[in-house]
Amino acid sequence: MVVYLDNAATTWPKPAEVIEAVKDCLENKGANPGRGGHRLSLEAGHVLLETRERIATLFGIPDPLRVIFTLNATDAINIGLRGVLSPGDHVVTTSMEHNAAARPLYYLAKEGVEVTWVQADSSGLVDPDDIKKSLRPNTKMIFLNHASNVCGTVQPAIEVGQIAREAGVIFFLDAAQSAGYLDIKVDDLKVDLMAFPGHKGLYGPQGTGGLYVGPGVNLRPLRVGGTGSSSEDLEQPPILPDLLESGTPNTPGIAGLGAGIKYLLGKGVARLRAQTEKLLDTLLNGLAEIPKVKVIGPARERERVPVVSFLVEGLDPSEVAFVLDKVYNIAVRPGLHCAPLAHKTLGTFPAGTVRASLSSMNTESDIEALLNAITQICQEIAR
Ligand code: ALA
Repeated sequence: MVVYLDNAATTWPKPAEVIEAVKDCLENKGANPGRGGHRLSLEAGHVLLETRERIATLFGIPDPLRVIFTLNATDAINIGLRGVLSPGDHVVTTSMEHNAAARPLYYLAKEGVEVTWVQADSSGLVDPDDIKKSLRPNTKMIFLNHASNVCGTVQPAIEVGQIAREAGVIFFLDAAQSAGYLDIKVDDLKVDLMAFPGHKGLYGPQGTGGLYVGPGVNLRPLRVGGTGSSSEDLEQPPILPDLLESGTPNTPGIAGLGAGIKYLLGKGVARLRAQTEKLLDTLLNGLAEIPKVKVIGPARERERVPVVSFLVEGLDPSEVAFVLDKVYNIAVRPGLHCAPLAHKTLGTFPAGTVRASLSSMNTESDIEALLNAITQICQEIAR
């Protein structure tokens, strides 16, 4: 049996309910939602509505229609950034961003958007004061990676949200690694836009994700097209979610996502987190006892998500991951994790790190297997 420790890339295995919901949708609710008045189309429409409502419950969103279905978090980030920023606008972001944000911002900068990259410290933590000091009269947005996909650092989102609110700028949170793991309520964090994947902490299938659009944020649509509404008009309907959702949605995936969130809400975010946190403790304590291993990222006592990056002295991260896969049947992700800026911040560029990332589906024996394997690898290289 494979030991799967790559949950920051996508959570696996999925709960049985998620697989069942996708199957049920394909078998029994296979029509196109919002594109017909017949029973099957209405049932498919209900799948979307139910999932939107569950997302709204999870994140404390008063109006479920402000939840937009997207392909993944990257898609949601592109819709949000391009929907707001124009040449001459300024955006403040950080050196811990994933390429999901860094690349769109790089291209927007070429088009005349001004971007300030606030430097995090060597544990990946950003000082909210540095964000505040970077604000300018033309600042339109603060964009923040909530939790690092490289080393698990959690940013002080409450403080940053407050800074954004006081300055009257849009606060855009990338919850790719925190959604479903940390308790996120959009009003508590004063979030105006929030991108989240469906296939990580929400246990849904790949090809699902979402964007929360707060009241007062008017986005230009990135894509326009058929919505099943106002079809007589070539103008895109101005109402949400239609404004930002064109074309046939991923109904089976969204059915699975709805089941994933139901699973999460049923078990309880805090309970599943506590379960994973125990495994994280075992992993961090175990790695700390292996002399040739160096853990990268936040100090033990800091809040973090269950993403652990480490180095094995004398070995390239990709070699370690290769041996873990081929010899021990353990899946981890080495390298830069699509986040070169974060690795530069942490001092692990260009080789990157070995990353083990957990979900509540992991067990103590998975962690033991990794620790034993790393211990043996270290013994081998000492010979
Ligand atoms: N962003 C995902 C990761 O960190 C794919 O692996």
